Amino acid sequence: MSMAQDVACSFTGEESIKNSKLIYPAATRNQDPILQVLKRFIISDVDTIDDEESPLFLEIASGSGQHLAHFAPNFPGVKFQPTEVDESLLGSITYYATHCPTKNILPPKQVDICTKLSSYGFEENEVDYMYCANMIHISPYECTIGLFENAGNYLKPDALMITYGPYSKDGVITPDSNVQFDASLKARNPSWGLRDIADLIKLAEQNNLTLMDTVEMPANNKTLIWKKN
Ligand SMILES: C[S@@+](CC[C@H](N)C(=O)[O-])C[C@H]1O[C@@H](n2cnc3c(N)ncnc32)[C@H](O)[C@@H]1O
Repeated sequence: MSMAQDVACSFTGEESIKNSKLIYPAATRNQDPILQVLKRFIISDVDTIDDEESPLFLEIASGSGQHLAHFAPNFPGVKFQPTEVDESLLGSITYYATHCPTKNILPPKQVDICTKLSSYGFEENEVDYMYCANMIHISPYECTIGLFENAGNYLKPDALMITYGPYSKDGVITPDSNVQFDASLKARNPSWGLRDIADLIKLAEQNNLTLMDTVEMPANNKTLIWKKN
């Protein structure tokens, strides 16, 4: 696998632990390019959080917790809620949340995205932004279905979901490094693999969402911006 490949997550064995926080090299590499995209789409004109008024940014599959730690100080008026299905990662996410200088990262919740978000205390049409990086291709397709169903039900009207990772387009994976990455994912777990943007658009339509923008990212990744109708 090429070092340029944007492989997040512990299955690579790449992560390291400093104190109690995990450091995923891929997350360290991609966090700033993703932040630059978020700056184009997140609207926040206040500089402190207010529990009632602040927009809620819900991250699904937070992994190490690094991404929100990097984003949150740039949007001090936004409430960031990390979530993760893997209980063993909650300590690292908590570390990043408690050390955030702007104090706008909430304690993590253990969330399986295949389950309705109401099971975790969220209300329909409550969420201002949903964000999910590098889960769609590194989990069974049921997780992607759950992600879009929950976005359709729990985002506010006109609110955005932002997904980041590698995708195939019109049935074609490019370049070769992504073809190899897809094969390595499927060898690891046959239910994993790059998803096609056309399939995601159909899934989005079934859940009252529209693909609003596609941003090309380093290392052959894309950030997709979905809008709730
Ligand atoms: C490759 S890691 C990405 C972590 C982080 N978002 C990043 O980009 O560094 C994929 C994450 O998806 C999470 N995941 C897998 N299945 C999930 C599910 N059903 N619900 C929520 N998260 C899930 C895994 O636990 C893992 O932390």
